[in-house]
Amino acid sequence: MKAALFRRYGEADVLRVEEVADPIPGARDLLIRVRAASVNPIDCKIRQGAQRALIHYRLPQITGLDVSGEVVAVGSRVTRFKPGDEVFSSPTHRRPGTCAELVAIDESQVARKPARLDHLQAAALPLAGLTAWASLVDAARLRPGQQVFIQAGAGGVGTLAIQLAKHLGAVVATTCSARNVDFVRSLGADTVIDYHEEQYDDLLYEQDAALESIGGEANERTLTVLKRGGRMALVVSGIPEAVKKHGAYAGTARAIGAQAAFIVGAWWRRRVAVKMVVRPTSGAMLQRLADVVQSGAVTPVIDAVLPLEEIAEAHRRVESGRTRGKIVIRVG
Ligand SMILES: NC(=O)c1ccc[n+]([C@@H]2O[C@H](COP(=O)([O-])OP(=O)(O)OC[C@H]3O[C@@H](n4cnc5c(N)ncnc54)[C@H](OP(=O)(O)O)[C@@H]3O)[C@@H](O)[C@H]2O)c1
Repeated sequence: MKAALFRRYGEADVLRVEEVADPIPGARDLLIRVRAASVNPIDCKIRQGAQRALIHYRLPQITGLDVSGEVVAVGSRVTRFKPGDEVFSSPTHRRPGTCAELVAIDESQVARKPARLDHLQAAALPLAGLTAWASLVDAARLRPGQQVFIQAGAGGVGTLAIQLAKHLGAVVATTCSARNVDFVRSLGADTVIDYHEEQYDDLLYEQDAALESIGGEANERTLTVLKRGGRMALVVSGIPEAVKKHGAYAGTARAIGAQAAFIVGAWWRRRVAVKMVVRPTSGAMLQRLADVVQSGAVTPVIDAVLPLEEIAEAHRRVESGRTRGKIVIRVG
């Protein structure tokens, strides 16, 4: 099969499309013919080697953590799916990735594709959608009528988080650049702050909840907009920045230590900060998200669709930090 992979860590141009052996599904696996995948910032961080203290690969590694496609075969112990089913997933990073013609995924990490979406849209949903769900539903425990601050509303996570928060009945404030103000309003944002012109922590206060996806000094600023007892989902770890300064192992240790200290400091100030990690075995959570999407309340936003051969360009666009919604890879 054709697959987009990297044989060494580095810039986007280490990515290549090559012929590799088809995956052999295990007893609990679905073999999925990939119709579309999408690129997340974590794919770029992994390919750069910034996560290598935590995620060990024997290179080459196929890139990609989102997929939508059709089941072509199932392992002997699979119970919930059959060949022909249309499915989507954000599988574990511990196995070969999704930017390939075929991928084998444990059935516990897979959900049925919402019928309303085509494969390109469905591939834009899993990792960013699970992040929004785990942040707002599980970490922030968002309830109707509450006020939530969603950092970076125009991004992959932000576009889905705004829609999900409105579906949950919350009042949404968000940040973006001037060119995206009308766009995030169209997704449902009630208050939109152009972060180039105004400081959100000068304007917002007494928020019940926050989704913080910039990290670094923004963590502290976002903490100040929360009311006492407010809850904040920490979506970024700061590991790549620390690894650049201090190396893979010391940098990772420092970033994890700084985040732990922030969480304790927040608790001391009577706010709850929760480190948010999307678990790959979230097929059940993904199915609940799929049901919300099928109802029409949430629709993934696609910035651009690129062919598998342009995987390096797709990574460059995501690394620019300027994408609106998701970059999707058309595979089959
Ligand atoms: N913990 C987890 O499991 C997990 C899961 C998913 C994602 N993440 C992390 O969460 C972060 C966001 O992910 P994503 O997929 O949403 O990224 P993304 O799609 O690449 O985000 C791009 C968007 O960020 C906005 N942006 C950039 N700088 C900003 C700033 N200073 N203030 C406000 N908005 C800004 C840009 O909007 P403008 O062009 O309008 O400036 C752009 O639309 C990434 O670091 C990612 O690695 C973590």
